[in-house]
Amino acid sequence: MKNKKFPRIKSKLILAPMAGVTNVAFRILCKKLGAGICYTEFFHTDALKKSDVFDVVNDERPVVTQIFGNDENKLFEAAKSLVGKTDVIDLNIGCPAPKVIGLGSGAALLKDLDKVESILKKMNTLNVPISCKIRLGINEKKIVALELAKIADKYCCAIAVHARTLEQGYSGKADWSYIRKIKENVSIPVIGNGDINKVEDVKKMFDETGCDYVMIGRRAMKDPFFFRRANHYLKTGEVLPEESFEEKMELLVEYLQLCKKYNCFEPNNFKLLFIQFSRGYRNSSKLRVEISRIKKFDELLLKVRELC
Ligand SMILES: Cc1cc2nc3c(=O)[nH]c(=O)nc-3n(C[C@H](O)[C@H](O)[C@H](O)COP(=O)(O)O)c2cc1C
Repeated sequence: MKNKKFPRIKSKLILAPMAGVTNVAFRILCKKLGAGICYTEFFHTDALKKSDVFDVVNDERPVVTQIFGNDENKLFEAAKSLVGKTDVIDLNIGCPAPKVIGLGSGAALLKDLDKVESILKKMNTLNVPISCKIRLGINEKKIVALELAKIADKYCCAIAVHARTLEQGYSGKADWSYIRKIKENVSIPVIGNGDINKVEDVKKMFDETGCDYVMIGRRAMKDPFFFRRANHYLKTGEVLPEESFEEKMELLVEYLQLCKKYNCFEPNNFKLLFIQFSRGYRNSSKLRVEISRIKKFDELLLKVRELC
């Protein structure tokens, strides 16, 4: 493939991969609200053999599909099965979940950079751009991010850096200085990630690290409108007010409609989103209880419509 570059995208803001969140419906909403590109949830190499798991649709492309696993051949085969169906295939080298690490995948790969090199090298023989998403290392005494980034520089079209260690999980502070160090040492685009909470943080990350793109996870899960406000802030310096509860509920109606269209409705994922979207608003705990009692899709849609 001649052009194995990261896709050209309209905004420098990227939706992070989030298991149980970034399904096709959520990705389409974030793209519409200003995400330049979205990552899928991570797919295990074995899961991809089932036909109903991979959920990318042409309308949302370009898109990044993330995979995880430990076996080089299985990762290669999984990636091969996605050629032509996605725009970038991303290797997860950062998931801290015990189930994932127990299989030697996700952040466990931070312990074996030779293996990572071998996996990326092989994946890169495919006719599709490859990327990876990393953490800094196992803990602060075993930081491997720079070494890993130099490997990625040889085979990948981009690298996303969640600036925490495996042992930090999702707590503590992300150390953006490593994103800067990586940016200074590689030629591929660097995607900075970790601790973006306010629109001002996006500019701060660009300014402090020189990264090419900023990836947003938990903030987008609570508030996909964040992409629109952050793009506006980057353009104008103006901080727009957050959207109202009613506007957020309208977005949830749209989410449910997309779930129906793409057959991807998962009650638990919806409940999680409802909790995130409604947090901090009046009566939200009472509403959460009401929502969690509703079992039928159409009743749920009706209820959320009433809240708009
Ligand atoms: C619910 C949830 C699910 C996640 N799933 C994935 C995943 O599948 N793959 C991955 O690389 N990172 C995953 N992450 C990590 C995020 O992509 C991101 O790196 C992390 O949340 C830090 O960014 P933030 O501070 O903007 O949230 C997940 C995070 C959350 C909160």
